[in-house]
Amino acid sequence: MGMPKLNIVILAAGLGKRMHSALPKVLHRLAGKPLLAHVLDTARALSPQNICVVYGHGGEMVPQAIADETLSWVQQMPQLGTGHALMQALPCLDTEGATLVLYGDVPLMGMDTLRRLIAMAGGETGIGESLVLLTVELAEPSGYGRIVRDDAGGIIAIVEEKDASPSQRQIREVNTGIMLIPNRRLHDWLHKLANNNVQQEYYLTDVVAMAVKDGISIKSAHPGHSWEVAGVNSKVQLAELERIYQSESAHGLLEQGVTLADPARIDIRGQLTCGRDVEIDIDCIFQGRVQLGDGVKVGAHSILKDVTIAAGSAIAPFSLIESAEIGKNCRIGPYARIRPGTRLDNDVHIGNFVEVKNSAIAAGSKANHLSYIGDAIVGKSVNIGAGTITCNYDGANKHQTVIEDDVFVGSDTQLIAPVKVAQGSTIGAGSTITKDTPPEMLTLSRARQTTIDGWKRPVKKPKDGK
Ligand code: UD1
Ligand code: MG
Repeated sequence: MGMPKLNIVILAAGLGKRMHSALPKVLHRLAGKPLLAHVLDTARALSPQNICVVYGHGGEMVPQAIADETLSWVQQMPQLGTGHALMQALPCLDTEGATLVLYGDVPLMGMDTLRRLIAMAGGETGIGESLVLLTVELAEPSGYGRIVRDDAGGIIAIVEEKDASPSQRQIREVNTGIMLIPNRRLHDWLHKLANNNVQQEYYLTDVVAMAVKDGISIKSAHPGHSWEVAGVNSKVQLAELERIYQSESAHGLLEQGVTLADPARIDIRGQLTCGRDVEIDIDCIFQGRVQLGDGVKVGAHSILKDVTIAAGSAIAPFSLIESAEIGKNCRIGPYARIRPGTRLDNDVHIGNFVEVKNSAIAAGSKANHLSYIGDAIVGKSVNIGAGTITCNYDGANKHQTVIEDDVFVGSDTQLIAPVKVAQGSTIGAGSTITKDTPPEMLTLSRARQTTIDGWKRPVKKPKDGK
């Protein structure tokens, strides 16, 4: 159920010239996600009746990248100002309730701030009684529309900097652009907008003076943090907001009791959920959905993407883990690579320079050094010696290797899949195993060691003339 009579329009048609990029501005990423996707997440969390996105620059790239059928997309071509942008969205807007205008390039707009703003728009008839502007006082207001108030403190207009008189330019209260407009007047106001200003644009801000004229009350709300209303116009501003986002995320984790070696050196590009007593060393990156159970330790410079790690497991430094499930009390790394489709049961050890792909490894098994385990099913209490490789690919197809419980694979073994190493088998080091092995026996494939009597090492020939 949507919030009754709340329409949301996200303005996202602008060019973003100062990004110096072929990618539309709202598709540049903050914390791994397009700017517009951040705004959409916030908008959806307000449960509006509908969300309409006004796009323009970059054309279909924007709706294609976001790919959400539940949104209404309207194209604004050419871009003749914020008022003109909202005009394009008119077919999506109700005749009662209110329309919340958000900017696609203002990614960190907070939910609490918007909830307060929406709460202010209500009266006996519900939201849509007042026009509510989100304003902020800036020490350096240049570039923004100024909020003009009368002697009693009531808002009477927004004047764009380029149209402002020298005394209006002294005003430090500015328009953030985010506002909630009563729908019962909006249609009429948008039709009345004109572009007789310095920029020859249809200014949405002109609705403020129209509201005064129509006797609609005008209120102002203010953001909880100044960065909530910060827009992205350049890579510099994008990097600044990225740091703010990351620092906020890190502080959220600290407040939940997670130990971070340095809250300034962690990057979360998705959702990180942590149990109690989790410790994360410096320079780790978390992508997608990552869940860390109680007491999990993540070593420095590790990258985890879409991973679940159960309680008590430790990831040593420089490990890369993607789309995997890791059981309790496992020991991973340093320098381990765990690829998609991997499931490790409890007490599994995966050591340095070991790669595991699309494999299930049962409890208590170990591959501690320099191995490749791909498309394998590994039983319990198996020991895989250093340098062991599953040869899973014949040049055309992938094949499975099955290693049953209590197997000991000697170092430098090649297991040529499809092949099964039966329960309790021991494989002699240096073997190439092409056939299934019998259980509980020693199997090896190795030339017998010999020593050549009287053999001499070659010596270097003297060079000509010396
Ligand atoms: C606008 C406000 C100004 C406010 C400032 C806050 C107007 C007339 N001015 O200024 O009071 O202080 O934002 O940043 O509203 N957009 C479109 N189509 C257009 C024009 C803009 O979709 O034709 C979108 C942009 O992509 C952007 C947003 O609207 O997300 C604001 O546009 P921008 O040009 O940055 O705003 P200003 O004109 O600088
Ligand atoms: Mg502009």
